[in-house]
Amino acid sequence: MNKRIYLSSPHMSDEGYEQQYIKEAFDTNWIAPLGENVNKFEEELSTYVGAKSAAALSSGTAAIHMALKAIDIKKDDIIFCPTLTFSATANPIIYQNATPVFIDSEKETWNMNPKALEKAFEKYPNPKAVIVVHLYGTPAKIDEIKQICKKHNVPLVEDAAESLGATYKGKQTGTFGKYGIYSFNGNKIITTSGGGMLVSEDEERIAKVRFWATQSREPVRHYEHKEIGYNYRMSNIVAGIGRGQLKVLDKRIEQKTNIYNTYKQAFKEIKEIEMRTNTRKQQTKSLAISNNTKRKL
Ligand SMILES: Cc1ncc(COP(=O)(O)O)c(C=O)c1O
Repeated sequence: MNKRIYLSSPHMSDEGYEQQYIKEAFDTNWIAPLGENVNKFEEELSTYVGAKSAAALSSGTAAIHMALKAIDIKKDDIIFCPTLTFSATANPIIYQNATPVFIDSEKETWNMNPKALEKAFEKYPNPKAVIVVHLYGTPAKIDEIKQICKKHNVPLVEDAAESLGATYKGKQTGTFGKYGIYSFNGNKIITTSGGGMLVSEDEERIAKVRFWATQSREPVRHYEHKEIGYNYRMSNIVAGIGRGQLKVLDKRIEQKTNIYNTYKQAFKEIKEIEMRTNTRKQQTKSLAISNNTKRKL
């Protein structure tokens, strides 16, 4: 018997929603390129999180890359990003030949420390963007971070790859900055096997991202390219899985809440294990262990 417990393994709906959307794509032969599922997944996800527009992409990493390109990050620009995160937060900074400056975390949320961020502005007064991460689904101190970005007139990108469905003061993470990104990688709260989404209030920039992500192909019959392009769009099959998964997102959040409460109850007598308080609505996906035993759960 396999006794291995997987880290957040994929969990398709019991109702088979994903297969219905995939079947529709097969029946209409909209396997590729793009298609109804991609358009609808963008619409449905932006409605869920309360963003104006969204671009469905091949990964969360691609979404971060496109956010940086949309901000016009270039060689030698400085980008602030957190020390404690998955490497994909920082890699796209290097894709753009820019320089990451890593900001330390604070104890309460493990995310970017607003005090350290303010200090970084003293040393590097002209960063081109700040990337904040909501690690393990716990929202960062967004009010403070946003205020600092506003004061210095620097755009904020939210890496909400791990926090789809988590809210901060009633608003979805990923919708506070100029751009927000989500990941549908296999270990996320909902998955499409692999995929990502870029959201923003700026519909024009999102349209431009869709263009770049489709090889920057000019809208003419022949192949014409005036800009460097990327093959970053989500396929219509993958988007079908996403539409089905979105239908069970609230259920998954409820299940994560139950897991959180189970651990909380189980560990309540052990003083070395310190749970992060569940002070914000749906701040449910994380479990904190005291500093010396911190690890990715
Ligand atoms: C914090 C964070 N940022 C970025 C990513 C990259 O997302 P993807 O794997 O979809 O490229 C992930 C997850 O894999 C992540 O956890």
